[in-house]
Amino acid sequence: VGKVVINDVVKFTREFRVVIGCGALNDLPKILEWLRPHKALVITDSKLSNSVLPKVKELISEVGLESLVITLGGGEGVKSLSTLVKLWELMIESGLTRGSVVIALGGGTVLDVAGFAASTFMRGCKLVNIPTTLLSQVDACLGGKTGIDLIGKNTVGTYYQAHAVVIDPELLRTLPNDVFREGISEVVKYAVIDGEPFLKYLEGVMSDFLRRDAGVLEDVIRECIEVKLSIIRRDYVESGVRAVLNFGHTVGHALERLSEWSLSHGKAVSIGLVIESLVAHKLLNFPLSDTYRIRELLSRAGLPTVTNASPSSIIEATKLDKKFVRGLPKLPLPRRLGEFEIVEVDWGVFRRCLEVALRMSVAS
Ligand SMILES: NC(=O)c1ccc[n+]([C@@H]2O[C@H](COP(=O)([O-])OP(=O)(O)OC[C@H]3O[C@@H](n4cnc5c(N)ncnc54)[C@H](O)[C@@H]3O)[C@@H](O)[C@H]2O)c1
Repeated sequence: VGKVVINDVVKFTREFRVVIGCGALNDLPKILEWLRPHKALVITDSKLSNSVLPKVKELISEVGLESLVITLGGGEGVKSLSTLVKLWELMIESGLTRGSVVIALGGGTVLDVAGFAASTFMRGCKLVNIPTTLLSQVDACLGGKTGIDLIGKNTVGTYYQAHAVVIDPELLRTLPNDVFREGISEVVKYAVIDGEPFLKYLEGVMSDFLRRDAGVLEDVIRECIEVKLSIIRRDYVESGVRAVLNFGHTVGHALERLSEWSLSHGKAVSIGLVIESLVAHKLLNFPLSDTYRIRELLSRAGLPTVTNASPSSIIEATKLDKKFVRGLPKLPLPRRLGEFEIVEVDWGVFRRCLEVALRMSVAS
């Protein structure tokens, strides 16, 4: 009796559409005509009930569909097993099928849990993401990561790229300032990944961006999405180059954990970007002048760039990161703007870099 080894590859690809621009929401009927769903379920955030939700329902009715709506409270608390069970039950009881569409309308939290529900319901129904925060417009709406928090953050999830993504910067009008600014760390991250022209452009338009000038918002968000698309096209499941999207996030996650999640993601990543740029300076000679430019941009956006956490506590928190429970931390670090390396850093080296970086981030 021999052993049978079958090596096979199933390549699964499907088309998805991304529409970006002020007024992009008006393209929803065209997208629905393309997807031809039997039913539509809108999963949304209570903060949008009186602003954009009525418009979305009207657009859905234009293609002769009735919209079922479920409203969740916004915020991290919705990424729970209990929300998921509620969503699955509603989907079954309302007679949704694989041919139905889930329209996720909200920030990253709503998109993450709605995406998970859509990806698992009948092994996957149609999904349209309509992000309504800056963070979700530049990041969470695209790339397929869905998930909930169980014991830890994002511990259970799937990869399920939405069939369509509608990014309309006009939906950001109602965002409170502090929530809007949360997304700017990711924007700065994309600029470092993309290179000098984008960083320079961002420096030039930051004041208009903060005023939420429509044209500037549109241009910046489009550029961020181009960067993310070019990366996920090459590496969807984060086995290689997609790791660059974690720049600033190793230290950022450690700081979030240390604060027991009282420090917001955007603020933690902002500090993480500065510290990891300094680590990149120590390890790869990333120019200090560029580190200062990154720090300046983040400060202009009102984001913090220093921490009083100790190197030891950051190391201990990093060791709990699900990415590094075995082995050494692998950090995506810039050698120069637009050029990254994934560097496996010995814990001792990481500690010494952090010591220097933390001293520099406070002193200079
Ligand atoms: N899937 C991914 O690739 C990915 C990437 C990055 C982040 N995330 C996840 O995204 C989540 C954070 O997303 P977020 O920052 O958008 O938070 P969020 O969804 O909690 O939204 C922030 C706040 O803004 C409110 N809000 C949303 N849109 C609004 C609008 N247009 N007007 C007024 N208020 C509005 C919400 O009610 C909430 O209070 C985290 O759970 C994170 O893990 C996922």
